[in-house]
Amino acid sequence: MPLSHYFDTTPSGPSAPRTVVLVLPDLTLELTTDRGVFSAEHVDAGTRLLLQEVPPPPAGVLLDLGCGYGPIAVTLARRAPAGRVWAVDVNARARALTATNAAAAGVANIEIGAPDEVPDDLRFAALYSNPPIRVGKAPLHDLLAAWVPRADIAYLVVSKHLGADSLARWMQAEHGWRVRRLVSRVGYRLLEVHP
Ligand SMILES: C[S@@+](CC[C@H](N)C(=O)[O-])C[C@H]1O[C@@H](n2cnc3c(N)ncnc32)[C@H](O)[C@@H]1O
Repeated sequence: MPLSHYFDTTPSGPSAPRTVVLVLPDLTLELTTDRGVFSAEHVDAGTRLLLQEVPPPPAGVLLDLGCGYGPIAVTLARRAPAGRVWAVDVNARARALTATNAAAAGVANIEIGAPDEVPDDLRFAALYSNPPIRVGKAPLHDLLAAWVPRADIAYLVVSKHLGADSLARWMQAEHGWRVRRLVSRVGYRLLEVHP
């Protein structure tokens, strides 16, 4: 069987659902994960750091870019019950899990879709992402160049070891975006980006 990646569009491995628990100061979520999605065994430490440290969401439409099984999107939907959250991922299994997890958390203010299902003219009050660093530098840069300018502000959590500082330098030098390091902890940087 060919090697499978968490960013495949249709994971080839058999399904093996499990539950992980996300405990945050303001809420606790039980989330279903599965083989073939990012960090299926536990909520990723970078994702947890982002959710612990980001400011409260602004009014308007929010974007979780690369939603995986939905820990960021579902948390945002709970924190912004009057807002609307788009959860976007190329991985169909991840999108299905996000739908399951939104329903289990009792949130209905989430739209879940593949990247090409997002209306072209939609802008976002804030973008949140634990981006798919492992897709490689050029696809990652293309992804950020396509989505970050559609948001008023972006919050990205990136492992220091996987190049957070060089990514921050690239965003500043290549695009002129203002990048501020909000937090550096447990090997991750939480970056606030003003496109
Ligand atoms: C590091 S994971 C983060 C998943 C989830 N947000 C979390 O925190 O657990 C990055 C996600 O980006 C998705 N992804 C990869 N390429 C993408 C693309 N071009 N557009 C949207 N999502 C993509 C992957 O499938 C993966 O689910």
